[in-house]
Amino acid sequence: MARMKARRRVCVVTLSGLDGAGKSSQGRLVQARLEQHGLRTAVAWLPIAFNPWIEGIRDSLKNASRRLRPMRSSPGGSTSADGEPEADLARALVHRSAVARHLWVTLLAVANVVTHWRLALTHSRTHDVLLLDRYSLDTAVRLAAWYGERGSVRWQTWLVRALSPRPLCSFMLDVAPETALARKRDKWDLDELADQARMYRERAGEFEVMRVDGEVPPDQIADRIAHEVLRNLGTRTPPAVGRRLVKRVLTDRAPE
Ligand SMILES: Nc1ncnc2c1ncn2[C@@H]1O[C@H](COP(=O)(O)OP(=O)(O)OP(=O)(O)O)[C@@H](O)[C@H]1O
Ligand SMILES: [Mg+2]
Repeated sequence: MARMKARRRVCVVTLSGLDGAGKSSQGRLVQARLEQHGLRTAVAWLPIAFNPWIEGIRDSLKNASRRLRPMRSSPGGSTSADGEPEADLARALVHRSAVARHLWVTLLAVANVVTHWRLALTHSRTHDVLLLDRYSLDTAVRLAAWYGERGSVRWQTWLVRALSPRPLCSFMLDVAPETALARKRDKWDLDELADQARMYRERAGEFEVMRVDGEVPPDQIADRIAHEVLRNLGTRTPPAVGRRLVKRVLTDRAPE
């Protein structure tokens, strides 16, 4: 651990999975375990398509929509914090124009990368481990769920995967869609959750995410994740942040 503190660079560990898979619960449990090992550990929850830029653009588009259609004011531009993140005007454009959709989804992807880097850099001098509740795999699944039916989101998915900080290790809490729905009756129905569960499983390898059974008791999952994190900390010295980014971009293949 002394080596780690001397290095003064945060290691990013990511938790992915369906809504209700147990990411936030694991964030807390794994944090407690790592802290018992003397590791200064932070947990951060990551909204997928919400950061100050996106909020600013949404607000402007919402105001523009109101001005353009004062008589047809629909309630609010966007939905809840996890609904499709578009104001009325943006939604109309995205739904009608492939170019607008492409640009909008690219903007969401770039904003997501910036959020990942901001969090990693913010914690780099104060913590040894940063546990991120949602990461690139979640963004990929969410972008596909929101926009995939209207066209490919492969380019944007590649952007997020290739340009985000490379985690020390990543975990996906694998639960059946029925379990996710029973744990959190939220905005998705069973069919939507089943589609997302399939995408998580299919893409876990591409994102170097380890699948962990999310249906066993929480303490058992946390023991397994903490053990894996400690093992990786002992064996791997991540390269400096800048070099890691360059290496990532150079070695990753662009989508065909
Ligand atoms: N392994 C588990 N076994 C049984 N119940 C669990 C398990 N993990 C989490 N839960 C319960 O499931 C519910 C959802 O858990 P949690 O909020 O951690 O999920 P989440 O992945 O963070 O969801 P979201 O993406 O919506 O934030 C909570 O009530 C939690 O107590
Ligand atoms: Mg959560």
